[in-house]
Amino acid sequence: MTEPRPRVWVSQPLFDDVIARLEEYFQVVSASDVAEYTPEQISSALSEADGALVTLNERIGAEQVAAAPKLRAVANVGVGYNNLDIPALSAAGITATNTPDVLTETTADFGFALLMATARRITESERWLREGHWRQWSFQTMLGADLHGSTLGILGMGRVGQGIARRASGFDMKVLYHNRSRLPEATERETRASYAEFDELLAQADHLMLVLPYSKQSHHILGAAALAKMKPTATLVNIARGGIVDEDALAAALAGGRLAAAGLDVFEGEPAINPRLLDLRNVVLTPHIASGSLATRRAMVSLAVDNLIAALGYGPSAGSPPNPIRA
Ligand code: DGY
Repeated sequence: MTEPRPRVWVSQPLFDDVIARLEEYFQVVSASDVAEYTPEQISSALSEADGALVTLNERIGAEQVAAAPKLRAVANVGVGYNNLDIPALSAAGITATNTPDVLTETTADFGFALLMATARRITESERWLREGHWRQWSFQTMLGADLHGSTLGILGMGRVGQGIARRASGFDMKVLYHNRSRLPEATERETRASYAEFDELLAQADHLMLVLPYSKQSHHILGAAALAKMKPTATLVNIARGGIVDEDALAAALAGGRLAAAGLDVFEGEPAINPRLLDLRNVVLTPHIASGSLATRRAMVSLAVDNLIAALGYGPSAGSPPNPIRA
């Protein structure tokens, strides 16, 4: 008798041809439509699974781990993994993996695009034009802020932060960064970025880009007090995680003229958007698409597939997935 193949749950429809690689080793149960799961549905989907390939939508916490006695590996399609309770997974001996590197440049490109759209009021002026407000060319129409020659603050100087710093030097920007730990001198030289304390970063930045991971420590790190330390002419761009910014405080600062504009790709309760943000014109809102080029999204799924195959003990890297998350 042949052993049954391990069972793997794929939580969302991804790229069929990429996911098909799992079928060489596993019995694959795949969502056929984009799905929004309750915690109980996730527990039930995992109850018979040996492995899972999930996105940031699926939260796997202690409750799901307890309901999944056979689960040995969870491959997250994404670099951020705040949807996974890593201590609970590792206490149960379950390997968790993510997909760094493959999305770095695409995400940095998007961060820059969002910064430019925000500082130069691109979406706001397009909406204004479509609404028929443009009667005559004028010197005063939609005046924005320059990128060239300005100071860019980067909060979180991992791979994406460094990618943004490299792009900024092409725009002749001065780059300051703040990070849990200071970068090696050679990396600072190569990215032309200088370390600043958090408060100094807030005070100096003409544009502030958030690229740090979400954690208890970074929850609402951009709250009323931090926002009050920024220049009233500054723009804020968040491509990290919504919970890093206190959205009510941000909306109040934007509405009160204490901050010029914000570009937000991520939201605390996404896909729900704080209605106070929706009411403002000086905010550019995008639906969490920073890594969303076709090539990069395919590469992310492919890397997650490699991780899952290896974490479950198959394929050329059996037992050594490329991107284990350390507890
Ligand atoms: C990530 O990878 O963490 C992004 O937010 C989703 O692509």
